[in-house]
Amino acid sequence: MRTALVTGSSGFIGFFLSRRLLEDGFRVIGIDNLSDYYDVGLKQRRQAMLQQNAHFQVINESIETPGLLMKLFEAERPDVVVHLAAQAGVRYSIENPRTYLESNIVGTFELLEAARAFPPQHTLMASTSSAYGANTEMPYRETVKADHQMSFYAATKKANESMAHSYAHLFGLPVTMFRFFTVYGPWGRPDMALFKFTKAILNGESIDVYNHGDMKRDFTYVEDLVHAIRLLIDAVPVRPEDGVVPDGDSLSPVAPWRVVNIGNSNSVQLTEYISAIEAATGRKAERNLMPMQAGDVPATWADASLLKSLTGYAPQTSIEQGVKAFVDWYRDYYKT
Ligand SMILES: NC(=O)c1ccc[n+]([C@@H]2O[C@H](COP(=O)([O-])OP(=O)(O)OC[C@H]3O[C@@H](n4cnc5c(N)ncnc54)[C@H](O)[C@@H]3O)[C@@H](O)[C@H]2O)c1
Repeated sequence: MRTALVTGSSGFIGFFLSRRLLEDGFRVIGIDNLSDYYDVGLKQRRQAMLQQNAHFQVINESIETPGLLMKLFEAERPDVVVHLAAQAGVRYSIENPRTYLESNIVGTFELLEAARAFPPQHTLMASTSSAYGANTEMPYRETVKADHQMSFYAATKKANESMAHSYAHLFGLPVTMFRFFTVYGPWGRPDMALFKFTKAILNGESIDVYNHGDMKRDFTYVEDLVHAIRLLIDAVPVRPEDGVVPDGDSLSPVAPWRVVNIGNSNSVQLTEYISAIEAATGRKAERNLMPMQAGDVPATWADASLLKSLTGYAPQTSIEQGVKAFVDWYRDYYKT
């Protein structure tokens, strides 16, 4: 039985991934500090569901606690590590940058040190489409330079990519970085648009629509994303002996390290997304048109051809199906 360590296991994506790995016969060790960035009750509910499986155990501590991950790696020797724990959110990072420094920079450093001492077969870590920052060439490709992050959140994630690259190079640690594109689905995050819009529409309240609705996002359904992660676990990067990297691959010439977009490869207008919520709730949204928010970008769009060539998989749940699954879950969970 392979052992997977999943950081952020009580989070939105960590919950779905842990569940998938348990189904696939992994023993899963989760770590999550149940931070109060959003409703802790939601995290506890996800965690309680995972705890019904005897092959799951969880530690409710912070990853940046000095030496904590080192001890855990020494005791458990995980074969695979999927690092999802982070302070997420673009807007929150403007007022609360220190939390990002602690969870994302110090936390990732602690994880890399533990992986250096007790190397897993593969370490995979969450970065974000926000790492593309001010890039305007679409769709975003992993092989194009991304140097102009627009928020401190994005900056910490881009820094994580570089930190992991240096450890991959120095210690031969195989690392895959994911750039996730706006993940949504049941059990989703209360700070994200789908949750906020659904809640407001069902309560008869208006919704704030930024950049006057002229926003596009490559929305990725959570089960599709987790399927892609599962396949990437077995696509372990290998440092190219001659330093020559195949065309279109983001593999490092000097390390077993690559970065992979996980997105639907379909950029959808925010107005279309809102229409899908209206259809699923059966109600009309009252819109407050607002200016662009600081730190945000008007559009994201993933080129998912590297993911396809590595795994044969391309996410494909339609917005209508995915939004409906969320709204059905929301109504059931909150009894509305
Ligand atoms: N959801 C998205 O659209 C999206 C997009 C791009 C990148 N990401 C990245 O994917 C990862 C997972 O995101 P998510 O949407 O599931 O977010 P989430 O907030 O639901 O999950 C993160 C989990 O990590 C835990 N955590 C936070 N700081 C911690 C710390 N210092 N120590 C231990 N646990 C800690 C939180 O309690 C939470 O349960 C994050 O790294 C995030 O930045 C998410």
